[in-house]
Amino acid sequence: LGDVHLPFTRWDVLEAAAKDCKAYKPDLIVQIGDLLDQYNWSLYKRATYAPNAEEEWHNTEQDIHHFHKLFGDKVPMEIVMGNHDLRLMLRCMEANLPRKLIRQLDELFPFDNWNWRVEQKPLIRDGVLFCHGDETGGDAFEKAQVLGTNVIQGHDHKGYLRYASPLEINRFGMSVGCFIDNKSVAAAYARRNFKKGFLGWATCTDGVPQLFPFRG
Ligand SMILES: [Fe+2]
Ligand SMILES: [Fe+2]
Repeated sequence: LGDVHLPFTRWDVLEAAAKDCKAYKPDLIVQIGDLLDQYNWSLYKRATYAPNAEEEWHNTEQDIHHFHKLFGDKVPMEIVMGNHDLRLMLRCMEANLPRKLIRQLDELFPFDNWNWRVEQKPLIRDGVLFCHGDETGGDAFEKAQVLGTNVIQGHDHKGYLRYASPLEINRFGMSVGCFIDNKSVAAAYARRNFKKGFLGWATCTDGVPQLFPFRG
């Protein structure tokens, strides 16, 4: 599951992904980061029509429970930390707050089947590195070549799958798209950009990736 950016989310797209997910029966769901937007505590200037911090957090809490319900508590979910997920911690660090005064996302939302990867160790399964995408330069395909492993990422909100086969070893990089509401204030920074985020999701079965565009 790509970037969700709660609470600025296309729920129709997420619901379609959840329906596919039920039929696909995964043994693991990876949410690739930017599960939360945290618009109000970014360093960018906020829009005058944006919800205030109280409203945003209220909506985020409601939506995260809705998201958890949508994908259920049966399948384990790994949640990679995206740059938006880390905004809370960055603001706390700037204020020089000791760790004991801060509640991390895994403490705020301790769902049994969720593993918030707050320690930010690389997630590697079946020869695939799952990363948010902002950790190292280059897109997923370039990372796959540099790191010598298959790469699945989010962050750029693109949807693509590209292979290279050096020495006959098939290696891929894939960006899994997003669920952001392109009309929301959270996406307003890109409103003049003709290229919008790819709405969709992806699977990886025995190391074979597949992308699914939302067909609304
Ligand atoms: Fe994002
Ligand atoms: Fe991101």
